Amino acid sequence: MVDVLLGLQWGDEGKGKVVDYLARQYDIVARFQGGPNAGHTLVLDGQKFVLHTIPSGIFRPQVLNLIGNGVVIDPTTLIKEMESIAAAVPNFGERLFIAKKAQLILPSHRLLDTAMEAAKGKAKIGSTLRGIGPTYTDKIARRGLRMGDILLPNFKARYEELKTEHLKMAQIYPTVDFDLAEQEANFFAAVETLKGHQLVDGEYFINKQLTQGKKVLAEGAQGSMLDIDFGTYPFVTSSNTISAGVCNGLGVAPQKIGEVIGITKAYCTRVGSGPFPSELFGEEGENLRQAGGEFGATTGRPRRCGWLDLPQLKYTIMLNGVTQLVITKVDVLNEMEELKVATAYNYGGQKSQELPHDLVLEDISLDYRSYAGWKSNLKGIQKFEDFPQKLQDYIHSLETELDVPMKMISTGPEREALIIRD
Ligand code: GDP
Ligand code: IMO
Ligand code: MG
Repeated sequence: MVDVLLGLQWGDEGKGKVVDYLARQYDIVARFQGGPNAGHTLVLDGQKFVLHTIPSGIFRPQVLNLIGNGVVIDPTTLIKEMESIAAAVPNFGERLFIAKKAQLILPSHRLLDTAMEAAKGKAKIGSTLRGIGPTYTDKIARRGLRMGDILLPNFKARYEELKTEHLKMAQIYPTVDFDLAEQEANFFAAVETLKGHQLVDGEYFINKQLTQGKKVLAEGAQGSMLDIDFGTYPFVTSSNTISAGVCNGLGVAPQKIGEVIGITKAYCTRVGSGPFPSELFGEEGENLRQAGGEFGATTGRPRRCGWLDLPQLKYTIMLNGVTQLVITKVDVLNEMEELKVATAYNYGGQKSQELPHDLVLEDISLDYRSYAGWKSNLKGIQKFEDFPQKLQDYIHSLETELDVPMKMISTGPEREALIIRD
């Protein structure tokens, strides 16, 4: 079976940490979408690692890791990432597999991303500028280059052809500061190195493993509210981040999907532009940002912070078919006198449990419920029953309202700071 772990909000829910924890129960961890716009943080023995493309199972010695066909790969970033883990995981190359059908991010995709965002001015999406949008655009336009293409004798010629197209397109956008020649030199050096890695037919690879009874954990990137179809369009990323994306992002059939583990913070964050109904501004937002260390793992940008939003979570639980919940960063709320959770949306003169089709256009206000803070440190607690009563009540209340069991509770960035409930 393929179990799935994915974010139920706008990303950065703590997917990396939890995938790393769960990985030891699996044979394979596989990324199925997104690219180096993702930043998944792992804290192992006090050392911090941020993964962008490599699956978060790489630190578990028995686990194979697959970068699936649904992922977009920037060779330069991937090689840098490999270097950053090489000392800690010397044999990572033996356990890392890359789907030949994964699309390649060219330097000129990044140039276009930057130029297109510059053209949007105030309406910008707040992209990570990693070339994600233009690369998926080329995939759909049926002209992209794929990982397997690097092995072909005409790769350079095909590269030049696509780059020329990109440079033509770039002319209609503002000129941006981008050293294409330097980036290209890095790109081709990285491509050479990648030829020495295990490029596979990802769909055969994973299905053979499944036939042999192996267990797979699919690792989501971004969050469901950034999904290209169901997120806060147009302020979204360019892939299907929801569980449906696993099938076409890995080449597995729907009946192979088992548990869908949805992960949420105990509050909510968003990085980049776009609607965020439960956002907190001023001192309240700043306090949460500082307490949670809410700065982007990929770009370092401050994350916008707000309260947990139940209608939003019900929406993404529905879209993904979530069977288990994980809540992270509850420790960030340790000092709070009072915390809030959004319980309903008001728009169009009505109260609703459903999100409007366009969060951008609607004038929305939210209803909130307050909870008394537990005001104590959670360090070292290993059992749910040892949590302060107010925290237990808060968790019970969430799982009742969301109608999905809360199986894991994360109380710190470290691998060990995770409580599992039966
Ligand atoms: P991802 O993109 O979903 O993998 O999440 P990020 O790594 O971008 O952001 C999550 C951040 O929170 C990282 O800095 C993690 O080390 C940290 N983190 C994860 N779980 C917890 C937790 O339970 N408590 C605290 N305080 N930090 C956490
Ligand atoms: P992880 O996997 C949070 C956001 C960007 C921007 C929008 C589009 O670490 O949770 P893109 O670069 O895809 O064109 O940006 O999506 N975004 C993320 N926000 N976490 C991420 O990944 C994100 N990946 C993209 O900030 O608003
Ligand atoms: Mg992240």
